[in-house]
Amino acid sequence: MTDAMPKEVPRLKDRFAAYYRARNVERDHEIVQVDRGTPGGEYLRRTWQPVCLSEEVGDLPKVVRILGEDLVVFRTRRGEVGLIERHCSHRGASLEYGLPTERGITCCYHGWHIATDGTILETPNDPASTLKDRICHPAYPTHEFNGIVFAWMGPPEKVPTFPMLDAYVQPDVEAVPFSLYFPCNWIQVLDNTQDPTHSCFLHTRVSGAQFAVSWGELPELEYLRTPVGMINLNVRRWHDKVWVRTTDVMMPNLNQTGHLWLTAEYEETFLRTAITRWMRPIDETHTQMIGWRYFSPRMDRDSGADRSEVGLGKIDFIGQTEDERPYAERQRVPGDFEAIAGQGAVALNAAWNLNHGDRGVAMMRKLIRDNIEAIRSGTDHVAIERAPTVGGIVPTYTQDTVLTLPPRQRDDRAFMRDVGAKVAEVVFASAKLPEKEREGFVRKSTGEIAAAVR
Ligand code: FES
Ligand SMILES: [Fe+2]
Repeated sequence: MTDAMPKEVPRLKDRFAAYYRARNVERDHEIVQVDRGTPGGEYLRRTWQPVCLSEEVGDLPKVVRILGEDLVVFRTRRGEVGLIERHCSHRGASLEYGLPTERGITCCYHGWHIATDGTILETPNDPASTLKDRICHPAYPTHEFNGIVFAWMGPPEKVPTFPMLDAYVQPDVEAVPFSLYFPCNWIQVLDNTQDPTHSCFLHTRVSGAQFAVSWGELPELEYLRTPVGMINLNVRRWHDKVWVRTTDVMMPNLNQTGHLWLTAEYEETFLRTAITRWMRPIDETHTQMIGWRYFSPRMDRDSGADRSEVGLGKIDFIGQTEDERPYAERQRVPGDFEAIAGQGAVALNAAWNLNHGDRGVAMMRKLIRDNIEAIRSGTDHVAIERAPTVGGIVPTYTQDTVLTLPPRQRDDRAFMRDVGAKVAEVVFASAKLPEKEREGFVRKSTGEIAAAVR
């Protein structure tokens, strides 16, 4: 660097000194990469990833890009779903133009017939060739569940059982699949879920109450490890109520979120998740969020819930897609989409200035990093597929509990933290019970907590 060039400084301390700010801030390659053979990409290939909604796989094949791989998903005439390399093993024609058959798909160019597992059944342009017995077309195992197609893109000798979460077996709950697009790296979409303070600002004080006004109260925050990831524990004061909310991140890229419009005006106990969603990379700079929105009379008590607004490219709450509102309106009333995508295609966290409110984001990124290292070094990693189960069901920790506990004259914030910690202990203890018994246990135990501290 010569004297004529600006001296770059990583942290500006002087006013009007933009000229000296650091250039070429590097991406955090280790955790943001998603390709096969990269550290992050290998971790993401150790979990069942959602491919698309079942409704997207009709009579025509569909091109999908997942974890940087160009693939085709299709449904055979007998209903089985295949996920295969996009380009034909013969001479590379795109199988999006192939014709689904009883057992697989035939390539449009010379008719090679490929089964869902990659077996080449026929090579009709050279019927006598034994080539088909010596090669396979690249294919991934799939699993279709409740309106979503999933794939295992990791080592085929290690295909785990598809994990059944407690959220899937809740009584009187309807699960509606949805799929949303974000033009940015998957981690910053997941960051948002371990960043509860954004609810006070983005969703309430800045944009007006996009959910309930109680969200504008700054919570007391704690972050706790679970067997498969972490939760944030956020505790809000709302008049004579203490509202304890817990939100899961399950490794590597799965989140659950509680009731979206909870007012905290009335008591609630162990109200379960309103959303289960994967931040599934398309590639390093694009993400498809795929999951279910849950509806139930109890959950929808004071909500704007609308199942007709949930599906492909849409969801029933504001600020989740680019095309739902004009740009100027999105500028005036921004939502999660604007905040997350606005961080850039890959947020440059080396240039961030974290504070106490960002502990959840820092902890979550460290968890991802530690598990990437575990995969690389061949030691045990954490993933939802490895979660402990009770009767075959994975217990999760997302819930809302609202207790009537009037404010303390002295140090109400410490009181709230104490109540929050006790409720979290109960939620963790309940995870050892069968799903059917958890709510009753939490109700009894939190009732005892409230009685003891009142
Ligand atoms: S390129 Fe597919 S059969 Fe020839
Ligand atoms: Fe949000």
